[in-house]
Amino acid sequence: MSRKKIALIGAGNIGGELAALVARKELGDVVLFDIPDKEGLAKGKALDLEQNGAVLSHDAGIKGSSSWDDCAGADVVIVTAGVPRKPGMSRDDLLSINLKIIRNVAENVKTKCPNAFVIVISNPLDAMVYEMKKITGFPAQRVVGMAGVLDAGRFQLFLAREVGASVKDVRAMVLGGHGDTMVPVTSYCTIYGVPVTQLIAPDKLQAIVERTRNGGGEIVKLMGTSAYYAPASAAVVMAEAFLKDQKRVVPAAAYLDGEYGYKDLYMGVPVVLGAKGVERVVTINLTAEEKAMLDKSASAVRELIEASKKL
Ligand code: APR
Repeated sequence: MSRKKIALIGAGNIGGELAALVARKELGDVVLFDIPDKEGLAKGKALDLEQNGAVLSHDAGIKGSSSWDDCAGADVVIVTAGVPRKPGMSRDDLLSINLKIIRNVAENVKTKCPNAFVIVISNPLDAMVYEMKKITGFPAQRVVGMAGVLDAGRFQLFLAREVGASVKDVRAMVLGGHGDTMVPVTSYCTIYGVPVTQLIAPDKLQAIVERTRNGGGEIVKLMGTSAYYAPASAAVVMAEAFLKDQKRVVPAAAYLDGEYGYKDLYMGVPVVLGAKGVERVVTINLTAEEKAMLDKSASAVRELIEASKKL
């Protein structure tokens, strides 16, 4: 059986970390792609990472490139092409710049990687992944956005720290758009099955929810650009679920066609990820308050999508 081919579009901070993780896990051979101006960066990172593989003893080819021909026939495409946030910027501020980039990337994915499972990371996430599906015309199962695994990870960390438990024992659910309106669903957050509402006082829980919502911004403020270790890991969890048909249940930006009462929209919901891609959107019961928050989040995503259509 030949190795899988994983094309990473964007060789910046997240792209480089993605390549390192994919290689370390031996998920397949990697093409680290960037624009011609950044070809040296892509090739340099690829070479450094192949040498890293020789030191750590793992087998994965990593090729830096600015030619779409090198991405041809990829099994998985992970897209980080775009600009990241600077301090003071919201994810939505990136819309007009990253929309042009995602359109160019999507046209190439459509022709060069017609059978790929596509994971979009570029922000504003929900609008970018919507555009990716629209332009490629791929079935919704094969185009997904990475946000929920990352946001849930942030939530899980803060919950674990608050109760003094291991992050391994915390499960948290985050729904909605990847932005200030994201909905951390406390009723589905547990520490080894015990609802966090039994372990953390309401005011403390609310503070954790707020910190989760601003989790990305907190990092941008500290280091002047957006996070990359956890975002890369989160996308690799999703890629691995697809490549190994793991049927993982994770929150991800999925295309909604009536689920949760929304149509023609990408938004964070729990999904099952396996060899067919997004195999199922899992519908969970929400309290009236949670549903109202999700409605608000859906409206914010819808506004972004409408704004995209005018650009
Ligand atoms: N095709 C391929 N790569 C592109 C293109 C394009 N058309 N346009 C830009 N890029 C590349 C840039 O040259 C850069 O190397 O995308 C890379 C982005 O890397 P960084 O600037 O380091 O950004 P990163 O931190 O990796 O974040 C990328 O993910 O989480 C989101 O908000 C974040 O939208 C941002 C994206």
